[in-house]
Amino acid sequence: MSKQEHGSSTHYAVHWQEEQYYYPGPEFIGQANCTDPEIYQRFSLDKFPECYKEFAELLHWDRYWHTTLDTSDAPFWKWFAGGRLNASYNCVDRHLQKHKNKTAIHFVPELEDEPIEHMTYQELYRRVNETAAVLQEFCGLKAGDRVTLYLPMTPELPVTMLACARLGIIHCQVFAGFSGKACGDRMWDSESDILITMDAYYRGGRLLNHKANADQAVQAAESAGQKVSRVLVWRRFPGRYSSAEPMVENRDYFLDELVKQNKNATIQPVSMPAEDILFLMYTSGSTGRPKGCQHSIGGYLSYVTWMSKYVQDIHPEDVYWCMADIGWITGHSFIVYGPLSLGASTVIYEGVPTYPDAGRCWRIAQELDVNIFHTSPTAVRALRKVGGDEPARYNYHFKHMTSVGEPIEPDVWRWYYEVVGKGRAVIVDTWWQTETGGFLCSTMPAIDPMKPGSAGPGLPGIHPVVYDDEGNELKPGEGKAGNLCIRNPWPGAFQSIWKDRERYIKSYYGKYNRDPQSKDWRDWPYMAGDAAVLESDGYVRILGRIDDVINVSGHRLGTKEIESAALSAEGVAEAAVVAMPDEIKGMVPDLYVSLKPGIDPSHELEKKLISTVADVLGKIARPAHVYIVPDMPKTRSGKIMRRVLASISNRRDIGDVSTLANPEIVEEIRQQVQG
Ligand code: PRX
Repeated sequence: MSKQEHGSSTHYAVHWQEEQYYYPGPEFIGQANCTDPEIYQRFSLDKFPECYKEFAELLHWDRYWHTTLDTSDAPFWKWFAGGRLNASYNCVDRHLQKHKNKTAIHFVPELEDEPIEHMTYQELYRRVNETAAVLQEFCGLKAGDRVTLYLPMTPELPVTMLACARLGIIHCQVFAGFSGKACGDRMWDSESDILITMDAYYRGGRLLNHKANADQAVQAAESAGQKVSRVLVWRRFPGRYSSAEPMVENRDYFLDELVKQNKNATIQPVSMPAEDILFLMYTSGSTGRPKGCQHSIGGYLSYVTWMSKYVQDIHPEDVYWCMADIGWITGHSFIVYGPLSLGASTVIYEGVPTYPDAGRCWRIAQELDVNIFHTSPTAVRALRKVGGDEPARYNYHFKHMTSVGEPIEPDVWRWYYEVVGKGRAVIVDTWWQTETGGFLCSTMPAIDPMKPGSAGPGLPGIHPVVYDDEGNELKPGEGKAGNLCIRNPWPGAFQSIWKDRERYIKSYYGKYNRDPQSKDWRDWPYMAGDAAVLESDGYVRILGRIDDVINVSGHRLGTKEIESAALSAEGVAEAAVVAMPDEIKGMVPDLYVSLKPGIDPSHELEKKLISTVADVLGKIARPAHVYIVPDMPKTRSGKIMRRVLASISNRRDIGDVSTLANPEIVEEIRQQVQG
């Protein structure tokens, strides 16, 4: 890791220079869905936006669109305007004719003595319809309503998502590892009065009581002013309630029971306008308030279907396993919508990759004959640490592997390639974001050589550009870091932030927009919020976030969210969070607090702060260290200098602090932290 000066902001980023290329083998190329190097020309900027028709043509449309890209309300792009389709129909019904007996979902429970479930497309169709019947008839839900899902990694999650999509209901899934409070806040923001959850699920060998979290979510939503009328509870073991929490009369219902009452119901998929909303996915930004990213039906589904076919290289006969959680965008796009839209067999694994031992993933791969594997650098680092030699003991054969969510260090990449991929599988390092719906930069797996540590060039149709803070374009090979932007809109891009058009414009288009009145997409480069270097071969090397976001195990957390959680603990006067590199998780938060007068620091208080952050946001946000300091380093105008604290945590040169209002505190904190 090294220091990277970047415009006015200073951040610390992965900084390696790797120029070694690896080439896809003939076996992979021979079977790949895309081997045509001309593909980049087919998607050159002069063919924009009509080139994207090719994406939409992978779907079934009830009515074709009249305008490929409507820019009349720039930068609120509307893709395939005038078209109509249904996402659930595209992911389920259209496969029945040819593939009804094919496995749609392989569900692998965490406990190895529980049988693996192989759900066919016919079975998925039945379950989606029965669930949709409950949503329509029992809950009275209709197109455009929002429903919050707070579900773990079980098949009920995609079934519920697709049941919503069938009726045009907007689903808002909240990661099950998030706290009830975080879920309740999102219910309030999305104005959902129905919560769909599960009583319990397995994690690390323990059956966790999830209904307790759901009850907290309801409480949080209601105290924020959002009434909750119904809580529908799937049971992990249908017919057997595995939670100690009481069911609340006239509010809580067992969804598996309601579904039984709708046995074999069929619900017509609602033909939806392409530019209506499929789902909201909340993510973190620079302020404490999470952003509800709005994804469209037609544009999003076209985009993830194309990416699944050509970047993930999914064929009908493949078994595809993406180890992300469906509670994040990766799971929405690349466990559920992309693979199912292609009629593929997708694996859902309930639990921890290393449970009960370091060989678990490779046993699953062997048993299900998985040949496409998709995971994050954090998981790769953890798997390498606990069982560097394990993959060789199992008989599986990957043809293709993905790395996603954070930069992957070249030596971790090489272990992934040599040991997990056994030197045969291609790797795509896909750079993208919750906002972007699908991949933006990556190699095309049969066309471009791989370069460890670099995501790759812009994918066909994606035209990246790196600007400095003044808006000058940095040339490839110049070696300077700048703000990574995309010149053109693309169909997978989110439409807006739910109920916050201003924040959408300001956060993503504010800095480099050339004319706020313009209806021309060329005037609205998309700013991703990442610093990057554009290399001479056109590959993009991602350095990390430029805003107040920490990427912990590939999950985005806002430093402001963690700070405000810490401030909710009694006695805390001020809080500041900084990022620290971590061997496994990539980055972790360090928390600094100062106390109100009369409150004494103690080890108990440190522990309390860690548990408060976990309660408010979820365990993944837990600070690695808590430092209770006598005062924060501040500017003369009273602003906390997080940069100074980051230097102390990271044991770097602190630089000149003489202009601070309280320079003497810096040395005191340094001694406290570094000893
Ligand atoms: O900083 C980039 C990093 O993750 C951020 C997006 O996080 P999130 O919205 O949670 O999206 C998860 C799905 C990708 C980006 O702004 N990031 C993502 N992929 C990569 C990456 N950093 C380096 N290399 C990647 N392949």
